[in-house]
Amino acid sequence: MSKLKVLVTRRWPEAVERALAEEFDVTLNESDVPMSQQALAAAMAEYDVLCPTVSDRIDADVIAGGDRVKLIANYGVGFDHIDLAAAKAKNIAVTNTPGVLTDATADIAMTLLLMTARRAGEGERELRAGEWSGWRPTHLIGSALKGKVLGLVGMGRIAIATARRAHHGFGMRVAYYGRRECDPAVAQELGATFHPDLNGLLREADFVSLHVPGGGETANLIDADAIAVMKPGSYLINTARGGVVDHEALADALRSGHLAGAGLDVYPAEPQVPAALLGLENVVLLPHLGSANSETREAMGMCALANVRAYASDKELPNPVG
Ligand code: DGY
Repeated sequence: MSKLKVLVTRRWPEAVERALAEEFDVTLNESDVPMSQQALAAAMAEYDVLCPTVSDRIDADVIAGGDRVKLIANYGVGFDHIDLAAAKAKNIAVTNTPGVLTDATADIAMTLLLMTARRAGEGERELRAGEWSGWRPTHLIGSALKGKVLGLVGMGRIAIATARRAHHGFGMRVAYYGRRECDPAVAQELGATFHPDLNGLLREADFVSLHVPGGGETANLIDADAIAVMKPGSYLINTARGGVVDHEALADALRSGHLAGAGLDVYPAEPQVPAALLGLENVVLLPHLGSANSETREAMGMCALANVRAYASDKELPNPVG
């Protein structure tokens, strides 16, 4: 039987590329620059399986490009860059890689929380610019974490992992907003308070950390009105998706001092970063590093491979979405 033709749109960790190539007829995007929409659309007619990442936009036009692809095995947990309805209409299965990047992403949420609270980015920039004049009692004073309220918007796997780090490691109190209350054992472990409405959480939290999926339902969830409700002097952390935040409103709040700081790993139209943020000292800007450690990136690839393998052998897909 001939091997399935698989297109991998970006370079993956070597071990995963090797494992994939042992079982399938794999085409790699050697250049590792994002493929054009036209090339992605053409691929729909040429391959059996498409393996995209968050940097590809698999919209209805791409999906309409051909009838051969029957599995879109995404390398990543978030899938708001894939038009699930269009895929479903053509009977194309979509899978993702949940679970394996939970710890790595929670680590980046804590990195941003610590960097913003302790003004680490500002300090590093000052030092590198040769502008550090030495230790003094009033230099770059930040905020303590102990006893402060971490407000989680969404309470899925990554939010819980972030809360565990913040609570057990740094003595933070935990509150969360979500559609429903979390597992009572988790709530008890974290002493977590549930807010059924977002504004209640935003009013209480010293640090708000976003953990909701991207897409239409959460677009601009943190808009000017929501930011106005946030506690004066509080902080916003986003490791979820850029579209969840109105960045113009965020920049205004950072400029006026209503918010003390923000830590962002994601942006609405990556790799563009909203210009209004670039000149501000009190924002830490990371280039979508949430899952970027070697163990995690390899595990994500192996998870995507497990989905392709299951599809190839007509088994139940381990991680279907939609
Ligand atoms: C994901 O998996 O959705 C991340 O944003 C990419 O690491």
